[in-house]
Amino acid sequence: MASMVIMASYKIIPLLFFITFLSSATSDDESQPTFLSHACSSDKTFPANSAFQSDLTTLLSSLASDNTANTDFYNTTVAGGGETAYGLFMCRGDVTLEVCHQCVVEATKRLTSDCQFSKEAVIWYDECMLRYSNTSFFSTVDTRPRLGLLNTGNIANPASFMRLLFTTMNETADLAAKPALGEKKYATKEAFISGFQTLYCLAQCTPDLSPEDCRRCLSGVIGDLNWCCDGKQGGRVLYPSCNVRYELYPFYQTPA
Ligand SMILES: *[C@@H]1O[C@H](CO)[C@@H](O)[C@H](O)[C@H]1NC(C)=O
Ligand SMILES: *[C@@H]1O[C@H](CO)[C@@H](O)[C@H](O)[C@H]1NC(C)=O
Ligand SMILES: *[C@@H]1O[C@H](CO)[C@@H](O)[C@H](O)[C@H]1NC(C)=O
Repeated sequence: MASMVIMASYKIIPLLFFITFLSSATSDDESQPTFLSHACSSDKTFPANSAFQSDLTTLLSSLASDNTANTDFYNTTVAGGGETAYGLFMCRGDVTLEVCHQCVVEATKRLTSDCQFSKEAVIWYDECMLRYSNTSFFSTVDTRPRLGLLNTGNIANPASFMRLLFTTMNETADLAAKPALGEKKYATKEAFISGFQTLYCLAQCTPDLSPEDCRRCLSGVIGDLNWCCDGKQGGRVLYPSCNVRYELYPFYQTPA
């Protein structure tokens, strides 16, 4: 598997767009969540043994606790020593609660070791995303840091393909932003390209966003597809608040 993951701090991310090349032939170990990338603040840090560190430990363990194993989205805060720690996780709309929980546990472990003194971090897996900060981000659209991933295979007719991709992605985003009452802000949609090829699209927002904010966030990630994945057989753009992905093979579970 020839894949490259680049990390960076929040400080420099607005200037850059990280693109990771993922082979579609990635052999996934089914029991382990598939790590994509993470970003840890290097300009906003806390000292060892500080109150924030103990709040963060509490926050991460409550996100990963058995009490949250029955949900695919959870947000919480811990305010032990003055400054508040805010955190949330969201799992991809089609993963089981068991896979979701495994992913969240893995995400908290990895952040604890890789982002040891960061006051702010986000981590993305195929199956889930998790983030925390000392600043509230609930119900707000955050578009940085962002991550672009592309499937390196080229498309035969890029111009017509990209038109179909944007049309289908826009429809998927409309569905995701305005789900039926009580449903998550998640949608998938397929489009036939030709007799033999189908385009598979997925869009998701964190459920704390309003329909308008969700759609606005999705417009951002969809617009970035042009930049990251023009003419490619697959691609994704991930923001902390929403993400999209497309492939020429089914990569999500469809309800029976
Ligand atoms: C979760 O986020 C919502 C806003 O989206 C907020 O009203 C609620 O208080 C948060 N829950 C916790 C435990 O912080
Ligand atoms: C979060 O931490 C940064 C860096 O230590 C600090 O400048 C900022 O004021 C903090 N935010 C809040 C809401 O306390
Ligand atoms: C998709 O929606 C964006 C606005 O979010 C618009 O600019 C663009 O033209 C639309 N593309 C297609 C193909 O419908």
